[in-house]
Amino acid sequence: MSYIQLQIDNQCIAARRGQTILEAALENGIHIPYLCHDPRLKPSGGCGLCLVEVDNVVQKACMTRVLDGMQVKTKSDIIVERRKKKLNEIFADHWADCLAPCTLVCPAGTDAQAYIGLIVQRRYRDAVRLIKQTNPLPSVIGRICTRPCEDSCRRNLIDEKVSICFLKRFVGDRDLFNTNRYIPKTKLPTGKKVAIIGSGPAGLSAAYYLAI
Ligand code: SF4
Ligand code: FES
Repeated sequence: MSYIQLQIDNQCIAARRGQTILEAALENGIHIPYLCHDPRLKPSGGCGLCLVEVDNVVQKACMTRVLDGMQVKTKSDIIVERRKKKLNEIFADHWADCLAPCTLVCPAGTDAQAYIGLIVQRRYRDAVRLIKQTNPLPSVIGRICTRPCEDSCRRNLIDEKVSICFLKRFVGDRDLFNTNRYIPKTKLPTGKKVAIIGSGPAGLSAAYYLAI
């Protein structure tokens, strides 16, 4: 692997050829603000916060490869102004910062972001437990839902949506055929009875949530 030398904020650093300025800076303990950079993903240049000046031209540090002898500034009035502008643009249309858009548009309000996170960690039973807090029929809904969550998935802005519905179906089916399937605790009987008319998804859901 070959190394090159560049200067960031007048500090001489060595970087691997092919690295981006952001990667080289972070590896050398130099802070450049960023939001969309993730070492596991191809750089998208989406947030526009990692601005630096390279030989007096403003560039995105996550999209610019290091070159021998490069002079990089991470702080200057123009950079700070442009970062502020970018941040304001991000705030202007980010209504879903606190709740993921997939959850906001789900008619059942299922926390898709959280159960996908649990599936990633292979915590399948916890994922089913979470889904069933708002949707008692993940295997069925994982097949027939019109998937508004996937239309609103922010990954659409980068490449393609996350297969939220199939993930739900996957954990639902896994649980269904598991001898130790997740069965929530039911409440103690109150002595009262409720008659539910119909045994479709709505009736079954009503019975389920009345019992737990
Ligand atoms: S990436 Fe898509 S699935 Fe994941 S939390 Fe965001 S909107 Fe939901
Ligand atoms: S980290 Fe978002 S554009 Fe560079």
